[in-house]
Amino acid sequence: MAPNIPFLTLNDGNKMPVIGIGTWQASDEEVETAIDAALEAGYRHIDTAPRYRNEKAIGRVLRRWLDSGKVKREELFIVTKLPLNANAPSDVEPIIKKSLADLQLDYVDMFLIHSPFTLIASEDGGVKKDEQGLMIPDLRTNHAATWVEMEKLVPNGLARSIGISNFDQEQVGRLLKTAKIRPATNQIEHHVYLQQRELVDFCKAEGVAITAYSPLGSKGLAKLNASVGIARDLPDLMDIPVVKEIAAAHGKTPAQVLLRWVIDTGVIAIPKSSSPERLRQNFDIFDFKLTEEEIAKLLKLDQNFRICDMALLRGVERHPEFRFKNEFTQ
Ligand SMILES: NC(=O)c1ccc[n+]([C@@H]2O[C@H](COP(=O)([O-])OP(=O)(O)OC[C@H]3O[C@@H](n4cnc5c(N)ncnc54)[C@H](OP(=O)(O)O)[C@@H]3O)[C@@H](O)[C@H]2O)c1
Repeated sequence: MAPNIPFLTLNDGNKMPVIGIGTWQASDEEVETAIDAALEAGYRHIDTAPRYRNEKAIGRVLRRWLDSGKVKREELFIVTKLPLNANAPSDVEPIIKKSLADLQLDYVDMFLIHSPFTLIASEDGGVKKDEQGLMIPDLRTNHAATWVEMEKLVPNGLARSIGISNFDQEQVGRLLKTAKIRPATNQIEHHVYLQQRELVDFCKAEGVAITAYSPLGSKGLAKLNASVGIARDLPDLMDIPVVKEIAAAHGKTPAQVLLRWVIDTGVIAIPKSSSPERLRQNFDIFDFKLTEEEIAKLLKLDQNFRICDMALLRGVERHPEFRFKNEFTQ
């Protein structure tokens, strides 16, 4: 691991860099530029998923960097996920092997169950819809059974750590009752407007590290929502006066303050950017620290406002493990 990146030691002893680059909503071309620039800037942790449809492009960049000797495999921390349309126990090994082939790697550092709620796959690898155009929930979901197969990946050498994503407190607690290998992280939406304190504190107390997705408020989601006719006002976290004031006091940007807050509260952050300039900015956060007073001010901003409400997956709200509130839930 590059010596200058702070890391968290996970419950299995593996070390996870506290900042990584997210890759959702990045085309192949964008992601190739971004991953190249990110590795140049010093990032070693990359978060991806088959659902982002860009693992092959990421794999091409990784291969160039590894072949050139500019980075060693053991310095990288690569995270990918078991998709929500292929979540049965029998999917685990073929899915990770496909991701490994696309990423041109022998193992990933972290393999996550992408979500506790699942959907029926269509023949073309997407999601099956019913006659009303709603995605069809896969009611066979059994976290404990899928986890047994996830656990085999560690001794088999396909994943160094395993974890979960989008699990709520009850779902984490239920999994912990049967798990032989405890999940190393729970990747959840976490930012100043959706702090999920009880879930965060519960996971930390159980030794499950929290990874914060959408730490900057997922600015691109509004456009994606609009493209499928979902009209929803989303807040701009970088425009919150308290965040701007703290940024000005440190000579930093609002984005840097939002990320520093995540890290200063013991959470791992995976901001996405396709812009080399912005991704460098997002990594340049280790030359300042928030004061206790500033952290307290940011803690007070919580509004329980979920930005990634999965409304894009219209129909998923009928799944019994779907616990988010969105415009389609009662
Ligand atoms: N497990 C899950 O279910 C799940 C769900 C959502 C996300 N994720 C993961 O978490 C990652 C991050 O979340 P996210 O992509 O939703 O949102 P995010 O990282 O909070 O925000 C990304 C957006 O902010 C913009 N941005 C980035 N840095 C900026 C800066 N310094 N100043 C101004 N704007 C900036 C980006 O635009 P530019 O690209 O133009 O810079 C992009 O539109 C994802 O990419 C994905 O890897 C996981």
